[in-house]
Amino acid sequence: MNNYRIETFIDESTIQENVCRLAAEIDKHYQGSDEEIVVIGLLKGAFVFTADLVREMSMPLIVDFINASSYGNGTESTGNVRIDHDIGSDVSGKHVLLVEDIVDTGRTFKKVVSLMQSRGAKSVKTCSILDKPSRRVVEMKLDFCGIVIPDLFVVGYGLDYAQKHRDLPYIGKVVFED
Ligand code: IMP
Ligand code: MG
Repeated sequence: MNNYRIETFIDESTIQENVCRLAAEIDKHYQGSDEEIVVIGLLKGAFVFTADLVREMSMPLIVDFINASSYGNGTESTGNVRIDHDIGSDVSGKHVLLVEDIVDTGRTFKKVVSLMQSRGAKSVKTCSILDKPSRRVVEMKLDFCGIVIPDLFVVGYGLDYAQKHRDLPYIGKVVFED
Protein backbone atom coordinates (compact mmCIF):
# COMPACT_ATOMS: atom_id res chain seq x y z
CA MET A 1 0.00 0.00 0.00
CA ASN A 2 1.17 3.55 -0.78
CA ASN A 3 2.38 5.90 1.92
CA TYR A 4 -0.20 8.44 2.93
CA ARG A 5 -1.08 10.95 5.59
CA ILE A 6 -4.44 12.12 6.88
CA GLU A 7 -5.34 15.82 7.02
CA THR A 8 -8.36 17.09 8.95
CA PHE A 9 -11.05 17.97 6.43
CA ILE A 10 -14.34 18.25 8.37
CA ASP A 11 -14.16 18.77 12.13
CA GLU A 12 -16.37 17.21 14.80
CA SER A 13 -18.53 20.28 15.40
CA THR A 14 -19.32 20.66 11.68
CA ILE A 15 -20.32 17.00 11.56
CA GLN A 16 -22.51 17.44 14.64
CA GLU A 17 -24.26 20.52 13.16
CA ASN A 18 -25.07 18.56 10.02
CA VAL A 19 -26.33 15.54 11.97
CA CYS A 20 -28.73 17.84 13.88
CA ARG A 21 -29.88 19.60 10.70
CA LEU A 22 -30.55 16.26 8.95
CA ALA A 23 -32.42 14.83 11.96
CA ALA A 24 -34.63 17.94 12.03
CA GLU A 25 -35.31 17.68 8.26
CA ILE A 26 -36.16 13.99 8.59
CA ASP A 27 -38.45 14.54 11.59
CA LYS A 28 -40.23 17.30 9.66
CA HIS A 29 -40.67 15.05 6.64
CA TYR A 30 -42.33 12.25 8.63
CA GLN A 31 -44.22 14.64 10.93
CA GLY A 32 -47.88 13.79 11.45
CA SER A 33 -47.38 10.08 10.94
CA ASP A 34 -47.16 7.92 14.04
CA GLU A 35 -45.96 4.97 11.98
CA GLU A 36 -42.64 3.47 12.96
CA ILE A 37 -39.76 4.16 10.57
CA VAL A 38 -37.27 1.41 9.75
CA VAL A 39 -33.87 3.11 9.77
CA ILE A 40 -31.35 0.98 7.88
CA GLY A 41 -27.65 1.81 8.13
CA LEU A 42 -25.29 0.57 5.42
CA LEU A 43 -22.41 -1.29 7.02
CA LYS A 44 -19.75 -0.84 7.82
CA GLY A 45 -19.23 2.84 7.09
CA ALA A 46 -22.57 4.22 8.32
CA PHE A 47 -22.46 2.68 11.79
CA VAL A 48 -21.20 5.90 13.42
CA PHE A 49 -23.52 8.28 11.53
CA THR A 50 -26.56 6.01 12.05
CA ALA A 51 -25.92 5.96 15.82
CA ASP A 52 -25.61 9.76 15.94
CA LEU A 53 -28.57 10.41 13.64
CA VAL A 54 -31.14 8.22 15.42
CA ARG A 55 -30.23 9.81 18.76
CA GLU A 56 -31.14 13.25 17.32
CA MET A 57 -34.41 12.06 15.73
CA SER A 58 -37.65 12.11 17.65
CA MET A 59 -39.80 9.82 15.45
CA PRO A 60 -40.68 6.30 16.59
CA LEU A 61 -38.17 4.05 14.82
CA ILE A 62 -36.33 0.77 14.75
CA VAL A 63 -32.74 0.35 13.61
CA ASP A 64 -31.35 -2.33 11.32
CA PHE A 65 -28.21 -2.75 9.22
CA ILE A 66 -27.37 -4.13 5.80
CA ASN A 67 -23.92 -4.72 4.35
CA ALA A 68 -23.84 -3.95 0.65
CA SER A 69 -20.57 -3.06 -0.98
CA SER A 70 -19.26 -2.01 -4.36
CA TYR A 71 -15.73 -1.49 -3.07
CA GLY A 72 -12.74 -3.76 -2.50
CA ASN A 73 -9.90 -2.71 -0.27
CA GLY A 74 -8.73 0.09 -2.55
CA THR A 75 -10.22 3.44 -3.42
CA GLU A 76 -12.05 2.64 -6.67
CA SER A 77 -15.53 1.19 -7.15
CA THR A 78 -15.70 -2.18 -8.90
CA GLY A 79 -19.22 -1.69 -10.21
CA ASN A 80 -20.51 -4.88 -8.63
CA VAL A 81 -22.76 -4.60 -5.59
CA ARG A 82 -22.84 -7.54 -3.19
CA ILE A 83 -25.11 -8.07 -0.19
CA ASP A 84 -22.94 -9.65 2.53
CA HIS A 85 -25.32 -9.20 5.44
CA ASP A 86 -29.05 -8.62 5.13
CA ILE A 87 -31.55 -6.91 7.46
CA GLY A 88 -33.64 -9.03 9.83
CA SER A 89 -36.66 -6.69 9.68
CA ASP A 90 -39.69 -6.99 7.44
CA VAL A 91 -39.98 -3.70 5.53
CA SER A 92 -43.21 -4.53 3.75
CA GLY A 93 -45.70 -1.67 4.26
CA LYS A 94 -43.12 0.31 6.26
CA HIS A 95 -41.41 3.65 5.77
CA VAL A 96 -37.71 2.93 5.21
CA LEU A 97 -34.91 5.43 5.75
CA LEU A 98 -31.57 4.28 4.31
CA VAL A 99 -28.48 5.79 5.91
CA GLU A 100 -25.08 5.97 4.20
CA ASP A 101 -21.66 7.35 5.10
CA ILE A 102 -20.89 8.60 1.56
CA VAL A 103 -22.43 8.37 -1.89
CA ASP A 104 -19.86 8.08 -4.63
CA THR A 105 -20.80 6.37 -7.93
CA GLY A 106 -24.32 5.89 -6.47
CA ARG A 107 -24.38 2.17 -7.32
CA THR A 108 -24.61 0.84 -3.76
CA PHE A 109 -27.42 3.12 -2.63
CA LYS A 110 -29.39 2.68 -5.87
CA LYS A 111 -29.23 -1.08 -5.53
CA VAL A 112 -30.38 -1.03 -1.89
CA VAL A 113 -33.21 1.41 -2.71
CA SER A 114 -34.53 -1.00 -5.40
CA LEU A 115 -34.14 -3.95 -3.03
CA MET A 116 -36.30 -2.27 -0.38
CA GLN A 117 -38.87 -1.22 -3.01
CA SER A 118 -39.02 -4.80 -4.29
CA ARG A 119 -39.73 -5.96 -0.73
CA GLY A 120 -42.82 -3.76 -0.59
CA ALA A 121 -41.63 -0.81 1.50
CA LYS A 122 -44.31 1.89 1.71
CA SER A 123 -41.66 4.56 1.06
CA VAL A 124 -37.87 4.55 0.72
CA LYS A 125 -35.88 7.70 1.56
CA THR A 126 -32.13 8.18 1.44
CA CYS A 127 -29.77 10.07 3.73
CA SER A 128 -25.98 10.36 3.69
CA ILE A 129 -23.59 12.43 5.79
CA LEU A 130 -21.31 12.92 2.76
CA ASP A 131 -21.96 13.21 -0.96
CA LYS A 132 -19.48 13.22 -3.88
CA PRO A 133 -21.88 14.11 -6.74
CA SER A 134 -19.05 14.66 -9.25
CA ARG A 135 -18.34 10.90 -9.15
CA ARG A 136 -21.86 9.65 -10.00
CA VAL A 137 -22.22 7.01 -12.70
CA VAL A 138 -25.88 6.21 -11.98
CA GLU A 139 -28.64 8.68 -11.14
CA MET A 140 -28.98 8.88 -7.37
CA LYS A 141 -30.27 12.01 -5.68
CA LEU A 142 -30.29 12.05 -1.90
CA ASP A 143 -33.49 12.99 -0.05
CA PHE A 144 -31.48 14.18 2.95
CA CYS A 145 -27.97 15.32 2.05
CA GLY A 146 -25.24 16.08 4.57
CA ILE A 147 -22.02 17.67 3.32
CA VAL A 148 -21.17 17.83 -0.40
CA ILE A 149 -17.45 17.24 -1.00
CA PRO A 150 -15.21 17.28 -4.10
CA ASP A 151 -13.57 14.18 -5.53
CA LEU A 152 -11.33 13.30 -2.57
CA PHE A 153 -10.78 10.10 -0.65
CA VAL A 154 -11.83 10.62 2.97
CA VAL A 155 -11.66 8.56 6.16
CA GLY A 156 -12.94 8.74 9.73
CA TYR A 157 -16.42 9.02 11.27
CA GLY A 158 -17.03 5.43 10.14
CA LEU A 159 -15.27 5.67 6.77
CA ASP A 160 -12.22 3.52 6.10
CA TYR A 161 -9.21 3.10 3.93
CA ALA A 162 -8.49 -0.67 3.79
CA GLN A 163 -10.60 -1.06 6.99
CA LYS A 164 -8.55 1.47 8.94
CA HIS A 165 -9.37 4.89 10.46
CA ARG A 166 -13.11 4.29 11.02
CA ASP A 167 -12.60 5.36 14.63
CA LEU A 168 -11.44 8.92 13.90
CA PRO A 169 -13.99 11.38 15.37
CA TYR A 170 -13.45 13.83 12.47
CA ILE A 171 -13.39 13.35 8.67
CA GLY A 172 -9.89 13.42 7.22
CA LYS A 173 -8.60 13.69 3.69
CA VAL A 174 -6.20 10.95 2.57
CA VAL A 175 -3.12 12.50 0.95
CA PHE A 176 -1.04 9.95 -0.95
CA GLU A 177 2.72 10.42 -0.92
CA ASP A 178 5.22 8.71 -3.20
P1 IMP B 1 -20.80 3.86 -4.42
O1 IMP B 1 -21.58 2.62 -4.68
O2 IMP B 1 -19.75 4.08 -5.45
O3 IMP B 1 -21.68 5.09 -4.25
O4 IMP B 1 -19.98 3.60 -3.13
C1 IMP B 1 -20.28 4.11 -1.91
C2 IMP B 1 -19.40 3.41 -0.91
O5 IMP B 1 -18.02 3.52 -1.29
C3 IMP B 1 -19.49 4.08 0.44
O6 IMP B 1 -20.46 3.47 1.24
C4 IMP B 1 -18.11 3.88 0.99
O7 IMP B 1 -18.07 2.63 1.68
C5 IMP B 1 -17.20 3.79 -0.20
N1 IMP B 1 -16.53 5.08 -0.43
C6 IMP B 1 -16.73 5.95 -1.44
N2 IMP B 1 -15.95 7.02 -1.33
C7 IMP B 1 -15.22 6.84 -0.22
C8 IMP B 1 -14.23 7.63 0.45
O8 IMP B 1 -13.85 8.76 0.06
N3 IMP B 1 -13.71 7.09 1.60
C9 IMP B 1 -14.09 5.88 2.09
N4 IMP B 1 -15.03 5.13 1.50
C10 IMP B 1 -15.58 5.59 0.35
MG1 MG C 1 -20.12 2.08 2.60
